[in-house]
Amino acid sequence: MSAHQLASIINLILNESSSAECLHDALDQFAEICSEVSGIVPDSSFDGWAEDTFLDSGMAINPQAAAYCIKDYQRSVIFIRGVYAAIKSAQERFENTPITILYAGCGPFATLLLPLLCKFKSGELDIHLLDIHQQSLNSVKQLITYFDFNHHTVKLLQGDACKYQHSTTLHVIIAETMQKSLEQEPQFAVTANLAPQLVPQGIFIPQKIEVELCLAHLENEKEWFKLCGHIDSGELIKAGKRHSLGTIFTLLPDQASIQMSEASRNKDTSALELGSQIVRIPSVDKLESYDVLMFTRIQVFEQYHLKDYEADLTLPHKCHDLSPLKCGAAYRVCYQLGNYPRFDLSEV
Ligand SMILES: C[S@@+](CC[C@H](N)C(=O)[O-])C[C@H]1O[C@@H](n2cnc3c(N)ncnc32)[C@H](O)[C@@H]1O
Repeated sequence: MSAHQLASIINLILNESSSAECLHDALDQFAEICSEVSGIVPDSSFDGWAEDTFLDSGMAINPQAAAYCIKDYQRSVIFIRGVYAAIKSAQERFENTPITILYAGCGPFATLLLPLLCKFKSGELDIHLLDIHQQSLNSVKQLITYFDFNHHTVKLLQGDACKYQHSTTLHVIIAETMQKSLEQEPQFAVTANLAPQLVPQGIFIPQKIEVELCLAHLENEKEWFKLCGHIDSGELIKAGKRHSLGTIFTLLPDQASIQMSEASRNKDTSALELGSQIVRIPSVDKLESYDVLMFTRIQVFEQYHLKDYEADLTLPHKCHDLSPLKCGAAYRVCYQLGNYPRFDLSEV
């Protein structure tokens, strides 16, 4: 693939009027060439977790599974557009200096940044790509040469983003080390460690992640989404079809390290926990017919959002801990840190 072809792929991805089909084709084309060059083939279930790395703060998925993230098409499109807008915005905020970018958890294709390099001249960016898996970094190295990006300043770093300390402050940090409902992967711990390393006015991507607990009818909502292509949570709540039990967690980069320092140990399980709160099951007609769902919403950068059902990352997570539903029952909800981060709900 020539630089010219990669440029047309990225132009298509950035073009807000591209159809979903064109966007999928463009991402598939990029993934195919990356696989040919690196030998890493996207595979969501590669070897049953065999090459995943279990860290103190969560699981780092293996390079094949990380490559597969590109197939969460809307996620990839919105993140790539958000990253591009963020770098442009950083160039306006920090004039006459190369924009220093740390991309933590870049995976084998560095999907959220690599295709954008055609949009920048050498010297404009100072890029640092970090991953726990050396195999991913080897892949990215081959891709940089293949796409003829060696004129850009790119450093490859193997390490744990939950502990990594950069030698200078950074203008932009990109981290997508997450699954829906912030389960399993270390997004929170990565954010808490890296966000304080930004310069004032620096940009952390994603800018905000919110998890809301709701009563809703999962199958009906999936059907509506298939029919309409979008779901407006506010309208569903107004229409009485969905009932919010509350926002159970908000991850804002500039607050994450404070939240981390305020985490407390659960007396019974000794797990490190954040933001414990109480939710109560409301009195709702046909309560037993509802599912309890966790919705994850992501603001990548400014207007670039991922809403309910739009991406694998924002599919609702069905929560069985509250079954059978009892009107008036109260639950303590907290976000548990450790090697398998997750929300814990227990009746009080
Ligand atoms: C969900 S994949 C995303 C890959 C790529 N950024 C993308 O968007 O397509 C997460 C990546 O982060 C890496 N990772 C997860 N936790 C990490 C950590 N604590 N330190 C360094 N890398 C990590 C994994 O190895 C994997 O490559």
